[in-house]
Parts: sequence; structure tokens; C-alpha cells
Amino acid sequence: MANTCVIGLQWGDEGKGKIIDILAKDYDIIARYQGGGNAGHTLIIGDEKFIFHLIPSGILHQDKKCVIGNGIVFDPKLFIEEIEGLAERNINVTGNLFVSDRAHVVFPYHKKLDLLQEKQKGNSMIGTTGRGIGPCYTDKISRDGIRVAELLDKERFKDKLKRTVEEKNRTFVKLYDDEPVSWEDIYEEYCGYADKIAPFVCDTVDLMARAIGDNKSILFEGAQGALLDVDFGTYPFTTSSNTTSGGVSSGIGVSPKQINNIIGITKAYTTRVGSGPFPTEVEGEDGEHIRKKGGEFGSTTGRPRRCGWFDAVAIQHSVRISGVDSLIVTKLDVLDDQDTIKICTGYKYNEKLYKTFPADIDVLNNCEPVYEEVPGWNEDTSGMRSAESLPEKAKDYIKRIENIVGVKVKMVSVGPERSQIISI
Ligand code: GDP
Ligand code: IMO
Ligand code: MG
Repeated sequence: MANTCVIGLQWGDEGKGKIIDILAKDYDIIARYQGGGNAGHTLIIGDEKFIFHLIPSGILHQDKKCVIGNGIVFDPKLFIEEIEGLAERNINVTGNLFVSDRAHVVFPYHKKLDLLQEKQKGNSMIGTTGRGIGPCYTDKISRDGIRVAELLDKERFKDKLKRTVEEKNRTFVKLYDDEPVSWEDIYEEYCGYADKIAPFVCDTVDLMARAIGDNKSILFEGAQGALLDVDFGTYPFTTSSNTTSGGVSSGIGVSPKQINNIIGITKAYTTRVGSGPFPTEVEGEDGEHIRKKGGEFGSTTGRPRRCGWFDAVAIQHSVRISGVDSLIVTKLDVLDDQDTIKICTGYKYNEKLYKTFPADIDVLNNCEPVYEEVPGWNEDTSGMRSAESLPEKAKDYIKRIENIVGVKVKMVSVGPERSQIISI
């Protein structure tokens, strides 16, 4: 099986977790390469629900290896909670879960700073998940971060932590007029974590290189979505990592030549959680209807997701950046009771028609979407399992998406459960 990368094409929550779980059976290794505890990937297997933040969504396949790469901002507390949660459900991860010794560690001061920065932004707040993502990546880039390898070396960790916390406390006290944090408390807490995570930590660069040498197949699992990419998304209303396929190489340490196939996941409509531009957002009762039917509440924070129509301009942008080879359309069932469905094919702003995704936040905030309307199918698709059984109008909708975006749809998801998937 060719090495495959699966990414979200919108603002996250496209159903990546479900799709990774389905695809995982055909691969040897499932690897996360960016993001951190901000991700919330949901798997529904029968009556059971799993939400993964750090652990790759292939973990339920006990014969596979799962890797958390160097590009991840690693929250050991969350990681331990996840593995303990799995152990309670008789899922043992020891021996098939690996954490990069180069991943940067998320500390309580990152979460505190995340919240303080948001508060200070007031009306222009990003609406982050509060998981310390931005501040941890900031420390990485400014070369002030602490990596997993250092966390495991307790003496070195003590010195570095002490110095780092002193610096952070100057910021908390002098800049934010807030309480300092105690490096001793953090040291004690994190030494406990270090002991628990140590058996999972390894040189994942070597692990991946050996796997490639042995012709093992790899599934790279993206988190967030292309429109949250720090370079290509709706900056500054983005996350702090490269969520596009370009993030794979730097986030796991394999050559771009090793990525043979790129799959983009999109909902049949659009959602966004947090602030920032969303040209096709539908407010009021109609938006509420989609939110309820799609269960659109954040997997990480529980916040209601903003809902709107399929935005082909945005998807084309995401497809281009990542070189997407095929699409998987999720949550088609959520549109089952719509009489008509809208597809955005352009943005109008100041007499100008935009066919490509603009960098300027003002344009995105104030543009008027140009819509094409297609008829709905008014039929329950959630029990359908073959392309032939789909209503003609649902097939037309999928075809229209393919034609506008210029990429083939390979699968359609019609419900949260593992079995609710149709190959096209
Ligand atoms: P991710 O972050 O991309 O993995 O997506 P999330 O798990 O945050 O959000 C997707 C939500 O939609 C989860 O609650 C899934 O169980 C659910 N879901 C996934 N695919 C479908 C689908 O085809 N139909 C419906 N109704 N729900 C789905
Ligand atoms: P998955 O992997 C949806 C959003 C936050 C906020 C912005 C920045 O489940 O698709 P951050 O905490 O990253 O600094 O927040 O990004 N965000 C997500 N939205 N799904 C996610 O992950 C997200 N991860 C971050 O809501 O707007
Ligand atoms: Mg999610």
C-alpha cells in the first residue's frame, strides 16, 4: 500500500478520526505529525465512543504501530489520561505506541499564557482551545522550548525548567499583572509524567527510516484543517502549525518523496469552531438546524460549531496547497432533509469577483458568497452502503463537487459509525 497522508480541507472536524480508523487496516504505521491536544478525533465503534487528542486514530487496530512525531506539541498529562482511558477499556498500547524524543512538551505556563493572550485580545480573540498550543510552538520557534528528551533527563530538566519559569513569571507578573507559577510544583508533577511516558519515547526518525527501509506502509494523520494552517489558512485566525501535507516531512522526519498519496477530507457542508472569517456561514434557524442534525459541538471543548454551506473556493485552495489526489466527503446524511443545497463558487467584494482564496482577512470577512443552488434529495442516506443506492440527487451533488473542485470523490460517509461508509 502506498504511503498516504490524510488531511482536513476545512477548519477542522471533517471526520478525520473516523476515516483514519477505517483506512488504518491497510497500513502498518499510523503517524501524527503536527498539532497537539487541540485536536479531537472521534471514533464510533458500535456503542462505544473514543475521542483522541494526541494518540493516532489507528490505535484501536492492535496489530499496528502508532507514532507521535516531533512536530507534535506533546502534553504528557493528556497523553497519560488517554492511555489510561484506553487501558480501562482493555486496550493495551505498550509496544505499539511511540513518542518522539524531539517533540516539544506543553507545560502549565503555556496553557496559562494561551488564556491570558486570548483575554488580552478581547474582541479579536482567536477562540483557541486553551490547550497551550500557540505558546508551546512559540517557544519552539524562539528556541526556548523543552523537548521530551530533556524531560527524561531529570537534572538537566530541572535547570532548564527553572530558567524558563523565571522568564515566564516575568511575563505573567509584569506584563499581565497575574500570579507567577511555581517551577518546583511543575518539576514534581512532570517528573511523575516522565516516568510514565519513558517506555513510549524513542527516536522516531530512526523508527520511521527503518520502517520505510522494510517497505512498511504509513498512514500520516493530519490534525485541524488546511484553513487553520498557519501559512495558508485564515491568518491570524489559525492554529500554530502546518496542517497541510507540507507539514508531514518536518513533523515526522521523512522525505516528501515518501508521501505517495494525499487524501483530503471535507464535510458535505462547512463548520468552524472559534472566531475568524467564514464566508458561507449560515446564521439563525437554518444554521442551528445543521448544527443539531450534525451534532456540531467541539470534540475538545464542547463549543457549538458554526455551520454553513460547502465552500468550493476554500476547498480548491486547500486542494492546491496540499496536492490532494482524492476526496472523501463526510456527513452527507446531515443534508438529507434539505430542500435545496448551496455551493459557494466565488466571493464578491468591492465589485470584484474572487475565484481564488484571498489572503486578506477583510475580504474574507466582508465578501458576499456567490452561490449555485442544487436540489436536495429528501431521503435518509444513513443506512445506504453502496454508491448505486444513493439517491440520484445526492449523486449529482457529489458529481458537482468533483467537477468544481477538479478532484475525484473516493468515499462518502453517511453517519458516525465505522460501517457508515460508501466507496464510490
Ligand atoms: P475530526 O477532528 O476531523 O476527527 O472530526 P471530529 O471527530 O472532531 O468531528 C466529526 C464528528 O462527526 C464526530 O462526532 C464524528 O463521530 C461525526 N461523524 C463523522 N463522520 C460522520 C458522518 O458521515 N455523518 C455523521 N452524521 N457524523 C459523522
Ligand atoms: P481537529 O484535529 C477544529 C481551532 C480553534 C481556534 C484555532 C486556534 O479536531 O480537526 P489552537 O488551540 O489550535 O491555538 O486554536 O484553531 N482549532 C480547531 N478547530 N478542529 C480542531 O482540530 C482544531 N484545533 C484547533 O478552535 O479557532
Ligand atoms: Mg475534531
